[in-house]
Amino acid sequence: MATDPDTAASDDRFVRVADRETLEADGQAVVSEDGQAIALFHHEGEVFAVDNRCPHMGFPLSRGSIEDGILTCHWHHARFELEEGDTFDIWADDVQTFPVELRDDGVYLDPDPPTDVDPATHWRNRLADGLHENLSLVMAKAIIGLDGEGRDAGTVSDSASGERSEPRADGFHTPVETAVNFGTRYREMGWGRGLTTLGCMANLYDDVGGRDKRRAMFMGVREVADETAGSAPRFQQYAFDNREVSKERLKEWFRDCVEVRDRDGAERVLLTAIGNLPREDVADILFTAATDHLYLNNGHSLDFVNTAFETVDHIGWEDHADAALASTLEQLTGATRSEELSSWRQPVDIAELVFDAHDLLPDLVAAGAGKEWKRPEWFVETLLEDDPELVIDTLTDAIREGATTEQLADAVARAATRRVAYFATNNEFNDWNTVHHTFTYANAVHRATAKTDATELYRGCLDAAMSVYLDRFLNQPRAPVPSPGESDRDPLDVREELLDCFDEQGQVNRAATLVSEHFDAGGDPADLKRTLGRGLLREDAGFHTLQNVEAGFQRFDALADDPATDELEARLALVAPARYMAAHFPTRRSAEQTFSIATRLHQGERLHEVE
Ligand code: FES
Repeated sequence: MATDPDTAASDDRFVRVADRETLEADGQAVVSEDGQAIALFHHEGEVFAVDNRCPHMGFPLSRGSIEDGILTCHWHHARFELEEGDTFDIWADDVQTFPVELRDDGVYLDPDPPTDVDPATHWRNRLADGLHENLSLVMAKAIIGLDGEGRDAGTVSDSASGERSEPRADGFHTPVETAVNFGTRYREMGWGRGLTTLGCMANLYDDVGGRDKRRAMFMGVREVADETAGSAPRFQQYAFDNREVSKERLKEWFRDCVEVRDRDGAERVLLTAIGNLPREDVADILFTAATDHLYLNNGHSLDFVNTAFETVDHIGWEDHADAALASTLEQLTGATRSEELSSWRQPVDIAELVFDAHDLLPDLVAAGAGKEWKRPEWFVETLLEDDPELVIDTLTDAIREGATTEQLADAVARAATRRVAYFATNNEFNDWNTVHHTFTYANAVHRATAKTDATELYRGCLDAAMSVYLDRFLNQPRAPVPSPGESDRDPLDVREELLDCFDEQGQVNRAATLVSEHFDAGGDPADLKRTLGRGLLREDAGFHTLQNVEAGFQRFDALADDPATDELEARLALVAPARYMAAHFPTRRSAEQTFSIATRLHQGERLHEVE
């Protein structure tokens, strides 16, 4: 609106933009200053100036209407208080206003007024708004705004070309931290699908290409908002005042509380442990309780706890361990214990086999102390046999011979990877979930062994191996995966064909062939990962698909670091998620449409002219 002329007259930022009489007669005008279109409105005897682009989707506000001090955009009818630009409709954002002065020779305005908040703060606030109201476009705009703040968006590139760019920290840390704070506080059931997706996206962040980093953050934040919407908040407990309790005592108390499904009690003990003990001891306590019973929640419980740890690692243990890890407790105290399921009891009581092996563990670990185990070539294939007693004996023998938790978890994860890579497409479609659960659980157990050397994690290996056994019929017959060979194709062409293949339904085996061919052609696995990331993040990918790709990338990295890994084994880690993706794609890509709109708005494109 018009400012005090005495103040404004002394400010040389003001520029003449319109004739007073003409504006009064016409009621409105659009002027351009420094390339920015500004709408002027004469209303109730005053002049107001606002950015002509509606902050929602860019429609010209000069084509809106004004009544009683409210400017209404005509595209989606967002309303703005005319003087300061505040919106009535949180999904639209506030519109920028400009100070106006009426002088004798015309209308003057300040085209570059000082801002109340810096852009990074504005986008952080908008991200919070988007999470609170579950507004996808607001979240997408905020993530792009945070990432692009101070950076030329034109340098960001996509996918198969392999071009890379490094985003600003605000494009990563702020979305992850904000979503963790929100999801752990406002979802009564705590850490679930949404926060696990966020953690997966944080883990994938370095592997995906330039603009896909923004898509990854959008995916994670969006899932947190979606899962939290409509939930009652979670009220966090407090640590005990007694800071002298030993690790052994806290571990015992925690396991006892989880055993009787006492979430509040378990939470107080865990918060005390986080306050008193180092990270590896907290990991010991949590992963031990997560394996006291068998394969909790189809493997999700331990997987979620592991992801919570890794998400905290991204944003800081000191500030976030308590809320994030405490929020996982429903995954332990409310979990289905697989020994309660008939599939673990009939026709073979594999639960009993596993519990018997638990009883042997102290002696096996003592026998293996000081020994060095080397995985025999036949070991992983034996874990795929149709004989649960043989599998248990194979694992317990390895422990007796000195196999570490890391070595054993890695071997089981290799077997679980094969279940996905060789999944036969003649199975029922939902059985993809079955092999997926085993795969991500086995991978999570392996990841957990890097966080604690607790020998209780051998129990996670046994669980995962029994789940591999239960999945045995899903590899009959084994799906074809090409053996390593040679190809003279350009790896870029292979990657582009792989993306094309995700555009068609049912290209599962073709995806496996292309991944293999990329290796045969000498392509860089990092480029292949970026292409898989591109294919993943443009889709409305389901929770399991997102997890599957994250686990595949982690398995590939683990295998690539191991000189003893043969070529096919490493390839299978990327064949598995590629096949999984091909089975579930294409989707409607509605989230990509929202992301695309947000990107085009950020670049200043005029959406209304091309829709
Ligand atoms: S309300 Fe203005 S563009 Fe949607």
